[in-house]
Amino acid sequence: MAKIQIINGPNLNLLGTREPDIYGNNSFESYLEGLREDYPDIEIGYYQSNVEGLLIDKLQEVGFDWDGIILNAGAYTHTSIALQDCIRSLKAPVVEVHISNVFQREDYRHHSYLSPACKGVICGFGLDSYRLALEALIH
Ligand code: DQA
Repeated sequence: MAKIQIINGPNLNLLGTREPDIYGNNSFESYLEGLREDYPDIEIGYYQSNVEGLLIDKLQEVGFDWDGIILNAGAYTHTSIALQDCIRSLKAPVVEVHISNVFQREDYRHHSYLSPACKGVICGFGLDSYRLALEALIH
């Protein structure tokens, strides 16, 4: 069974209530339930933390024997060289995802420290960005 880990960064635990005009009304947990039903043959792990170092710990924990990682690092995307270094160190491919289309938003969201180290980037499709990333990793 393929093992794909989803990792969400800061403030993404508030999905459903956080700026619903941008991020929608769904909690991540309810979206994840549907995703797991749609892909019964894939083990989909899920981890969320607001703490940069804990995201790095999780990436290192799964990054050598899981088949792929879907990472939404939230605002750390735009600030974290430490996360970039971590992604470069892993064996598993990492797909960077964003719920919103960051290129339609403030200039400071247009730059990602993570993209150069990732296999690819998916943004702007709402929570379905995660499903598209999963598709990309399993095909
Ligand atoms: C986000 C976009 C980031 O700019 C922002 O800081 C987030 C969420 C997204 O999923 O659209 O926290 O990664």
